[in-house]
Parts: sequence; structure tokens; C-alpha cells
Amino acid sequence: MITIVVGLQWGDEGKGKVIDFLSQEHDIIVRFQGGANAGHTVYLDDQPLIFHLLPTGLHRQGKTGVIGPGVVLDIQQLVQEIREMEKYAGSLEGRLWIDPRTALVLPVHQAEDGWEEELKGGVGSTRRGIGPTYRDVYARLGLRVGDLFHPETLKHKLKVALDFNNQILGARYGKPPFLVETVYPQLLEWAEVIRPFVEDTHWFLRSALKANRAILFEGAQGTLLDIFFGTYPYVTSSHTLASGALISLGIGPKEVDRIYGVTKAYTTRVGKGPFPTELKGEQGTILRERGHEYGATTGRPRRCGWLDLVLLKYAVSLNGVTRLAVTKVDVLAGLPEVKVATSYRLDGQDRRVPPASSEDLERVQPLYQTFPGWNEFPRPSQKEDLPEPLQRYLTYIEEFVEVPIGFISYGRRTDEILAIFES
Ligand code: IMO
Ligand code: MG
Repeated sequence: MITIVVGLQWGDEGKGKVIDFLSQEHDIIVRFQGGANAGHTVYLDDQPLIFHLLPTGLHRQGKTGVIGPGVVLDIQQLVQEIREMEKYAGSLEGRLWIDPRTALVLPVHQAEDGWEEELKGGVGSTRRGIGPTYRDVYARLGLRVGDLFHPETLKHKLKVALDFNNQILGARYGKPPFLVETVYPQLLEWAEVIRPFVEDTHWFLRSALKANRAILFEGAQGTLLDIFFGTYPYVTSSHTLASGALISLGIGPKEVDRIYGVTKAYTTRVGKGPFPTELKGEQGTILRERGHEYGATTGRPRRCGWLDLVLLKYAVSLNGVTRLAVTKVDVLAGLPEVKVATSYRLDGQDRRVPPASSEDLERVQPLYQTFPGWNEFPRPSQKEDLPEPLQRYLTYIEEFVEVPIGFISYGRRTDEILAIFES
């Protein structure tokens, strides 16, 4: 049984908490794209546990994590995360598998990502080397996890990759080169730490499926950051859509059972790019403070705004979402009114679908539906316990995007989720 969970906005939708909740009824959790740009937070007794590369839920005994070939692996970050997780949850041996095809993020990629931001202002990247690493993958220059265990090939491939990247560093940024003599021994050292975890994950997942085990594919980033369908060029460099999981893991389209899309009850974005419903004034600040909207990976304050149903419907369509998870619904309590964008005006015309170009998306004027606010948010044990105006707000969302809400999330702890399965 396969469940895919993806973000429907620009990342930070609360995927970490939803995935941790769902991990309880799954055996295996799989990261299929992105890298340490992700920051998925789970609260354990009010202490945050942030997953950047390790699949979320690995702190739970008996759960197995997989890192598939579509991920770009910052091995230093991974080694650190493994060590921290082992302090908490004991040895991960036998319950973490990393595919030998997974590409390595090199220190030179991170440096380039940072310098690109300084030079041109970049796209507001997390500076984790994601873009330059995927570029090298597609340029067929990339190093992969499997190369780490063939020292001679590794040295040769590293030399080729560094030659290419050092030319960029020198010519474009005027920076000194990264040397094989420094990077190579470091890679060999990290290789030994991850050696026990390396396994062909395609066959691991195939036998898990045969044995009827429940598998959860954990999306990172969000639909609107997808390299093809997001707000290009203000996107990440991977396929963040549900179909990205299939490409990256070698799973057929008919093998997926459920596709859950996570959206906040409002919208946030870090980094640059169009954001039609952004609230730049005091209202945005109120959402940021109430929702603690500061990045888990970079600590940057997030841009905040109303829920945009035009974009949400687009995201639902791009992923074939079967159920929605709406997160942070408690953050809206206490606002005098709450709005959702239902259409855009562009060049004197009303439209119900977003323009394909980011330049046009920058220019749209959202048209809103306004809802009366509600004051209290009592801890609900069923949908009917929610304040009535919030119930109407949620029903409006479901009807607009034509997908039922399966989960409503509030608070920080993983048990602060209401699962609604009857609809
Ligand atoms: P999670 O998984 C929010 C954004 C960056 C930047 C753009 C490109 O926690 O939801 P990159 O470093 O990927 O080249 O940056 O994408 N971005 C995210 N925003 N949540 C994330 O991950 C993100 N990962 C990347 O801010 O705008
Ligand atoms: Mg995050």
C-alpha cells in the first residue's frame, strides 16, 4: 500500500507533522526528492526535532526510512543527523536505506549556491547546494553514493566534477578552487559512516510491496516550487509533485493508493517569487507571529498571506490529490475576518486559473471571498466541535477544490490532528 504526501503550496505546509502522524500507520517512510533544503519539524514533549534529510518518523521504533535516488545528499548533514537520531532512538542499522544512485551534494555546490545569492540575489535559495547539484546530475557530472565505495573511480569523478565547478567559481565569483586533496579524504571518511545503510532501494521497496507493507512517500518543498509547474524560476530544482515520487523511485503510476495534499489554512512563502495573496502590512505580521512563521532550515521570516484557492486548485490538479490535510487552522482564530482568493483579475479579465508565467502571476489582482472571523479554538474531538464559521470556511475550501478534507491540524504536537474519514 502506497501513500504519497505532498505540499500544495510553497513548502512549510506542516508536512512534517502530518507525515509523523501518518507514519504511525505505515512501516516505511521514503524521501524521494530535494535535499537538506527541507526542514520537517516534529514536536516531542515540546522539543522540536527537525528532519532535513532523514525521513520523518524515524524517531519511532520499528519504522524504516528510505532515501531514494531522486534526493541530493549532503553527506555531512546526513552523518550529523544520523548521529543525533541514534542518540535519541538507538542504532539506525537495519532501518535506514540509502540508494547507491543518490547524487552527492559537494561543498563546492553549497559554496556556489551561496555566492550566487550574493552576486545576483539568486532566487532566495536555502544555500544548501540544491540547484548546482541537480545541474551536475543532468550534466552527467554528478557523483553518486555508490561511487564512495570505489576509491579510484571516486577520485577520477571528483576531479572531473571539481574541474568543472572550479571554473565557475573562479570565472563567475572570483573564488579559489576546491581541491581534490581536501575533499577526497573527507568523502572517504563519511563513506564509512554511511556504508551500512547503502542498499538498492528499488528492490527493497518492491519486496516490501509484495509483503503488503505500508509505505509512505514523504514529499519535500511544495507543488508551487516544482521545477516544471512551480513559479519558475523561483522554484527548487526537483520534481516536488506526487508524480516525482514515481520517477524517483521507479514505481509505476497504478501502484499508488492515496495522495494526500497538505495546505496551511493560509499561505506562506520564504525566498522570492510571486505571491498574489501576500499581506505586506500589519495583517501579515499578525499571521507570522501567531503562526511562528520562521524557517526551520534558515530561520528566515516567512512571507504570509491569505489562502489562495486559485493556486490550491491548480496544486490539487497537478498532484491528483485524493484528500486534503489543512494545517494550522487554530492560527486564524481571533482575526476579525478571514479571506480566500477565488479568482484573479489580469489585464481587465477575470480568470479562475493561474497564468503559467511568473511575470503574469506577479501582476494578477486576487478577488476575495470574505468570511466572518471566530474567536475561540477549542480542542476538537470531531469536526462538529470546531467553531461554526471555521466549519463553513473548511467546507468552502473542500467544495472549491473538489477534494474532501481528511485531516485538520492545529497546535504543534503530532496528536493535535483531527482525522475525518467519513467524508
Ligand atoms: P520544506 O520541505 C519552504 C525554497 C527556498 C527558495 C527556493 C529555492 O521544509 O517545505 P533551494 O534551496 O531549494 O534551491 O531554494 O525554494 N525552499 C523552501 N521553502 N520549504 C522548503 O522545504 C523549501 N525548500 C526550498 O526558500 O525560495
Ligand atoms: Mg519546512
